[in-house]
Amino acid sequence: MKLKEDLQNKFSFALNSLKGSPIRSFDAYASQFENVIKLTLGEPDFDTAEIIKLSVKKSLDNNRTHYSLNSGVLELRQAVAKSIMEKYNVKYSENEVIVTVGASAAIEHTISAISNPGDTILVVTPYFTLYSGCSYLNNCNVGYIDTLNTGFKLTPELFEEEYKKYKNVKAIVLNYPNNPSGVSYTKEELKKLAEVFKKYSIFVISDEIYADISYNYKHTSLVELIPEQTILITGLSKSHAMTGWRVGFVIGPEEAIKKITVYHMFTVSGIPTFIQDASIDALESNESKAYTENMIKTYTERKNYLIPELEKLGFEIPNVDGAFYIFAKIPEKYRNLKSLDFCKFLVEKAKVAIIPGNAFGEKYDEYVRISYATSLENLNEFVNRIKKVI
Ligand SMILES: Cc1ncc(COP(=O)(O)O)c(C=O)c1O
Repeated sequence: MKLKEDLQNKFSFALNSLKGSPIRSFDAYASQFENVIKLTLGEPDFDTAEIIKLSVKKSLDNNRTHYSLNSGVLELRQAVAKSIMEKYNVKYSENEVIVTVGASAAIEHTISAISNPGDTILVVTPYFTLYSGCSYLNNCNVGYIDTLNTGFKLTPELFEEEYKKYKNVKAIVLNYPNNPSGVSYTKEELKKLAEVFKKYSIFVISDEIYADISYNYKHTSLVELIPEQTILITGLSKSHAMTGWRVGFVIGPEEAIKKITVYHMFTVSGIPTFIQDASIDALESNESKAYTENMIKTYTERKNYLIPELEKLGFEIPNVDGAFYIFAKIPEKYRNLKSLDFCKFLVEKAKVAIIPGNAFGEKYDEYVRISYATSLENLNEFVNRIKKVI
């Protein structure tokens, strides 16, 4: 079907500044080759725990097939508030939680609800591309804060320096444990950041979707330190191997949640009721908690195997504190290739696929992201294949 000729240039100008996901497009490129080991996508290789699958079946049998409240099933919002209390000792009411279509919609609703055209959204890089995409769709400017020289971490000094460069700063988006670097922040580091954020009239959008997958120290949430400024983004996709279920949460002060709920109402108006029912079991059942613990144990084993192997091959790797990614500096001999060409070389010659670093910010062209959400057997074969070509 062809679109009417004179409608072809009638789309939102904001769309012109967006390209598709560079991660998906490299994955699609690699998929053209046969027998490639792909460590490309940010998705647990585990299936969802049995208890959660049983729960959704039960909910369907109980005909929980009708609309839910716009902001989400009450008992799920209560369960989310309870889990935040248990993890971070911060009290939220069920009216301070919205259930969204994955963390993706949580990010989109939040950015849309707080921004006006011409506002600046600061994004700490390397970063997950949705933050800039949603900002551009709202006709905002994006101020990228590059952390190449600070170990992939925002520091108070860096923040103050960068903040001064922009007008109308409305928010800063921070993601830790970070996709793609796996780097996180200690409580002391966050306290110092919180002190400086407090000085400014900005929202702090804290994407902590990987919080439960933390290896080296207990995750501290920004809601423990500056709850009055923080909009917390989280969800079940990564911690509960539930990417396809599309369950995310926005948590924040009631006035902010009321505004974001309006956005949610006019775009989504409530995710499927039976999925929300099962999400309560995901958060509360002991079986589900044990399942998550086992996933973390498995990721730890894989990480502990992969990092030294990659270092032996000449990759430089920052401290991995969480998530299931390694953001490795390309071995010196290949750095002149740039990340896309290096990754293409690996697909063609070694039959392994990883993501070029420039998918996470233009400064990261000497890096690659490797996802270890795959079996030890695959990781072993991945290492052997690379060894043969570099
Ligand atoms: C940092 C980060 N935030 C948000 C998301 C989106 O999560 P969801 O699948 O729940 O929409 C991802 C997914 O890769 C992510 O890495």
